[in-house]
Amino acid sequence: MAKILITGGLGYIGSHTAVVLIEKGYEVVLVDNLSNTRQEVLEGIEQITGKRPVFYAMDLAEKQEVAELFAREKDLMGAIHFAAYKAVGESVQEPLKYYQNNLCSLIYLLAALDQIPGSALIFSSSCTVYGQADSLPITESAPIKPAESPYGNTKQIGEEIIRDLCAVSNRIKAIALRYFNPIGAHSSALIGELPLGVPQNLVPFITQTAIGIRERLSVFGDQYPTPDGTCIRDYIHVVDLAEAHLAALERILGGSMNQTYEVFNVGTGQGNSVLEVVHAFEAATGVKLNYAIAPKRPGDVIAAYADTQKVEQVLGWKARYTLEESLASSWAWEQNIRKK
Ligand code: WQD
Repeated sequence: MAKILITGGLGYIGSHTAVVLIEKGYEVVLVDNLSNTRQEVLEGIEQITGKRPVFYAMDLAEKQEVAELFAREKDLMGAIHFAAYKAVGESVQEPLKYYQNNLCSLIYLLAALDQIPGSALIFSSSCTVYGQADSLPITESAPIKPAESPYGNTKQIGEEIIRDLCAVSNRIKAIALRYFNPIGAHSSALIGELPLGVPQNLVPFITQTAIGIRERLSVFGDQYPTPDGTCIRDYIHVVDLAEAHLAALERILGGSMNQTYEVFNVGTGQGNSVLEVVHAFEAATGVKLNYAIAPKRPGDVIAAYADTQKVEQVLGWKARYTLEESLASSWAWEQNIRKK
């Protein structure tokens, strides 16, 4: 089986994808600058798979470090690129930090991969490129809206950089996966989302409230034009998402890709409101959640959920976990990390 580089490999989605690839028989090399995770994630991957992947603590935004990595790991056949700063609010305050890190690391990675005939890149993109879509569910042909944050813009620009390289290179092919909202954790509860600091995302804030770290969940607005007034999102289990990366990688390495660059929306196809998630969490765990309605959060779209026809028909992938199963796995993970 091919040797694959996973950048951001100790991160939330990266670590779950490393487990899926190792269990499928791939040799994986993990790189991470540890800016938003901890090296102990490597222990979790080893405990789950029985294998300890090669890991380099390094900065992909340093061109020389990337060149040295590829000189050392000679037979890499591809990369799954997660490594990026991803805090929407922070990106507004520190745009140059986001453009420099997210775009330079992508460019240096592409330059190295483009030296390898038949190489594959899977790019971590986001439904955030659609902004508030004009119609739902969202298909891949939905218009790309002007980015509402430098973070979202780095995803849009990143896709364009990859598309333009693949159009002229006869060596590299790429697939961009536009994720909806990743939640949940591996069934072992040995790896999961490690939000350092106050969680920005809904589900880690829910589990930290449930376990008593946070006093109360603020529901950001209940006057939206939705059935219960709260925003709607497509919450996808991180293991389902990891398996979508495997399917995309095998589409390229298996030679069945007749274009040089493809894009897929990766979600469950189902939308759930914030209050539905809160109630599903209470039903799945038996834990009563303390929450209160708070003012809207600037920048939130009203509703976003995926049209999954293309990913199901072309990649042959479909989400398996229910919202309740995903939330129960997040809760198991929260309880486990608090034991440590
Ligand atoms: C979901 C819903 C909030 C926290 C973000 C990024 C996106 C992607 C996924 C990287 C919204 C509400 C949240 C809270 C709340 N990340 N909420 N109280 O904003 O849809 O997407 O994460 O690619 O790029 O933008 O996810 O989990 O922050 O919010 O009411 O304490 O939960 O208003 O409606 P979001 P989220």
